Amino acid sequence: MIKIEHLKKEYSNVTPLKDISTEIHDGDVICVIGPSGTGKSTLLRCINQLEKPTSGKIWVDGVEITDPGCDINKVRLKMGMVFQHFNLFGHKTVIENIMMAPMDLLGKPKQEAYDTGMRLLRTVGLAEKAMNYPDELSGGQKQRIAIARTLAMDPEVILLDEPTSALDPTMVGEVQAVIRELAKTGKTMMTVTHEMNFARAISNRVFYMDEGVIYEEGTPEQIFDHPQREKTRRFVNRLKVLELTIESRDYDFLGMAGEIAQYCNKSQITPVLTNRIQLAFEESVSRLLVPSLKDPRIQAVVEYSEEAESAVWTIRYGGPRFDALKSADDLALSVLKGTTEEMAYSWTENDELQNQLVVKIRNA
Ligand SMILES: Nc1ncnc2c1ncn2[C@@H]1O[C@H](COP(=O)(O)OP(=O)(O)OP(=O)(O)O)[C@@H](O)[C@H]1O
Ligand SMILES: [Mg+2]
Repeated sequence: MIKIEHLKKEYSNVTPLKDISTEIHDGDVICVIGPSGTGKSTLLRCINQLEKPTSGKIWVDGVEITDPGCDINKVRLKMGMVFQHFNLFGHKTVIENIMMAPMDLLGKPKQEAYDTGMRLLRTVGLAEKAMNYPDELSGGQKQRIAIARTLAMDPEVILLDEPTSALDPTMVGEVQAVIRELAKTGKTMMTVTHEMNFARAISNRVFYMDEGVIYEEGTPEQIFDHPQREKTRRFVNRLKVLELTIESRDYDFLGMAGEIAQYCNKSQITPVLTNRIQLAFEESVSRLLVPSLKDPRIQAVVEYSEEAESAVWTIRYGGPRFDALKSADDLALSVLKGTTEEMAYSWTENDELQNQLVVKIRNA
């Protein structure tokens, strides 16, 4: 129902959309993900003509809306847009907010607009708020009203630009639930979101945007579980993981140091944090564990979260119960302590590697 061909949008100093081509089919529920500034909002705004594309063509139901002769107001009626900020009219009640556009733009009789409005309020769980003013509602409730208002126009496609990102975390769930229900009704939808689990739950197609194009597209399983391209993989797996296994006293510690350095470098971890990640490994594994264990079997995993800029080593090792943090090597322990924010030892009875040391690296 929407076809986009070689869409380009350039501003004076940046070109967020270089070359976008895709087709959106009836009933598609598309989630658009990607780093900030990659043109996700711009794409939505070009589709409903809030922005004029620099070049390229867009068709909606066979009508070329990028044609200068096209009556864009007519086309806009087919598209509903839900923004981060809901823009309800403060001086009108909830039900009036919902009735307004159908009466003014579609010429619906008042009673019909009211009946539809009340039905939609019930579907978003807010019928009892019909006579309230927007200021009397929470953010999550306002956004649900904004969605009902969009639905009142019975658009063929709904474009949602980060509909939950301005909300208090406690209200994200109720709005997502409304959108999830909407997705089930077969409504064609395109949603920009940073919430990966939500995207996975509602969509049949995911667009990962980067470098001015739809860099990778696929089903949620393809994009989140089996991304094909490096940037997609980096983006969806927010954690960077390195796993090292030691099976003898004569392990290649220099090789491992190299692996860690390479991993830190690839993950764009700061030099300070890199140094601490390396030190923490050396002190705990090389100084505390390997000399003390009779038959070293160690699995060391470091996880780095780009978002939190934090790194954690989880070191599991076999043999009898041995709390490395109670080791007699005071020097190693104090160096280790200097690199960390938190350290914890635990023992799990029925694991093969029953000892576990968790070392959270300090990053300040
Ligand atoms: N009206 C404008 N004038 C100039 N530059 C703009 C304008 N609107 C957007 N841009 C720029 O275009 C780029 C893409 O912006 P856009 O808002 O589409 O990104 P986004 O992917 O939605 O990012 P975010 O995830 O942060 O919302 C950005 O570099 C932005 O600064
Ligand atoms: Mg945006």
